[in-house]
Amino acid sequence: MNETSTTSSNSEPVIRLEAVCFRYPGGPLVLDNLNFEVFQNDRIGLVAPNGSGKTTLFHLIMGLVKPESGRIKAFGRILANEQDFTMVRRRIGLLFQDADDQLFSPTVLEDVAFGPLNLGKSRTEAKQISRRTLAFLGLEGFEDRVTIKLSGGEKRLVSLATVLAMQPEVLLLDEPTTGLDNDTRNTLIRVLQQLEMTMVVISHDFDFLDQVTRRIFTLENGKILTDEQVHFHVHRHAHKMGKAPHRHH
Ligand SMILES: Nc1ncnc2c1ncn2[C@@H]1O[C@H](COP(=O)(O)OP(=O)(O)OP(=O)(O)O)[C@@H](O)[C@H]1O
Ligand SMILES: [Mg+2]
Repeated sequence: MNETSTTSSNSEPVIRLEAVCFRYPGGPLVLDNLNFEVFQNDRIGLVAPNGSGKTTLFHLIMGLVKPESGRIKAFGRILANEQDFTMVRRRIGLLFQDADDQLFSPTVLEDVAFGPLNLGKSRTEAKQISRRTLAFLGLEGFEDRVTIKLSGGEKRLVSLATVLAMQPEVLLLDEPTTGLDNDTRNTLIRVLQQLEMTMVVISHDFDFLDQVTRRIFTLENGKILTDEQVHFHVHRHAHKMGKAPHRHH
């Protein structure tokens, strides 16, 4: 996705972090006076080393951890209390880095329907939304599967289904391609390309980010660095069975 971003610096950001400092109890500063703005219809890739604070940034936006100082705004509102974060969790969907943090119901359908039910939908509506969302992700027939017995890749797609079933306005995806095989990864790319939504995607997979995002940011010394001029290029690689006919996407 290389087209120019449609965002305008004049419009109000959907998410804005201002001079945010954060540390885990007794630890060093993870985020240090961090500023970060996400505009409507932005599609931002966030690439930064392990332990640099990417997941922490998402958790701050969702109110799962609280900043030591600074302000977090979403949808034009300063997020100050639990009520504000309840609003945020309805309007922003977080795909957790670890699918096991996302899934907690006995079966897939119950897990996916949980969000819509929580938003006040009837059981029938919640089931309809869930079946539609599962079908969109190529997961027809998974409704009655036992969640804890799914494979890692299946769990990740079901996790995404639980997020999408809530019909959020913004998606925060924390390393969504980790552990996915090529077909599942392609499904994910197709799905994300079809979704016209504001997105921030943490990933180390540049080829994936090239296909689903428009801008690449990084985190360094606890601060966001933006880079509008990231150039994508192909790396040669080697693997077993290289002579067997296959394609790379
Ligand atoms: N619950 C926690 N308690 C204490 N320290 C933590 C906790 N979670 C994360 N950290 C530390 O905070 C720093 C940032 O962690 P974070 O998970 O945000 O990094 P990340 O950029 O998402 O890394 P990765 O690419 O490995 O997922 C790391 O040094 C990590 O060890
Ligand atoms: Mg992380």
